[in-house]
Amino acid sequence: MSIKNVTIMGGTGQIGQLILDALVATQKFNLSAISREESSAIFPAGVTVKKGDYSNDSFFVEALKGQDVLIMALSFQSPPELQTRMIKAAAEVGVAYVLPNEYGSDNGHPTMRESVLVNAGKTQYREQVERLGKSSWIGIVNNPWYDYVSCLHLSMKHQLTVAVSARWLL
Ligand SMILES: NC(=O)c1ccc[n+]([C@@H]2O[C@H](COP(=O)([O-])OP(=O)(O)OC[C@H]3O[C@@H](n4cnc5c(N)ncnc54)[C@H](OP(=O)(O)O)[C@@H]3O)[C@@H](O)[C@H]2O)c1
Repeated sequence: MSIKNVTIMGGTGQIGQLILDALVATQKFNLSAISREESSAIFPAGVTVKKGDYSNDSFFVEALKGQDVLIMALSFQSPPELQTRMIKAAAEVGVAYVLPNEYGSDNGHPTMRESVLVNAGKTQYREQVERLGKSSWIGIVNNPWYDYVSCLHLSMKHQLTVAVSARWLL
C-alpha cells in the first residue's frame, strides 16, 4: 500500500522530534501530530496539530481517521494505558501501521525480553496489535542511547560493561 498520512504522538520529544524532522524533510507525507491540550509543544510548519483531551477516546478516533501510520514516541511519564487506547482507536479506524513506544532493545528476542524489565513491559503492545488484527506493528530497536547513559554519569568503563553484558544475554 502507499503510505501518505502519518500521525505522530510526542513529536517534539527527545526522540519524536528527530522522527518528525526526518519525515518533514522527505516532503512525502501528510503529517499530523496528536498532542495534549495542555502541552506547550510547538511543531514544525506544515504539520497539522491535533490538540485534545487525552481522557476522551473519541478524540483519538477522530484524530486517527484516514491515517495510514501511527507513531508513538511518548514520555516515560505517560500512562501505560494510553498506548492501549491508541492501539484500539487505530484498529477501530483501520490505521495500517502502528509503531508502539519502543526505542530500546529488541523485545522480540525472548532472552532480552525476560531479562530487561523495561522490555517486558513493552511487549504487550505488539501483542495487542496482533490480537486486534486490523493493523501491523513496526518495532524500532535502537538499543540503549550511550550519550543518554553518559548523562547518568556512568563512566565509559561502566558503559562498556553494560554493553558487553547485554551482548552476552543474546
Ligand atoms: N533506548 C534508550 O536509551 C532510551 C532513552 C530514553 C528514552 N527512550 C524511549 O524513547 C521513548 C520516547 O522517550 P522520550 O525521552 O523521547 O520522551 P519525552 O521527550 O520525555 O516525551 C515525549 C512526549 O511525550 C508527551 N508526554 C509527556 N508527558 C506526557 C503524559 N503525562 N501523558 C501523555 N503524553 C505525555 C509530550 O508530547 P506533547 O507535549 O506533544 O503531548 C512529549 O513531547 C520512550 O519509549 C522511551 O522509553 C529510550
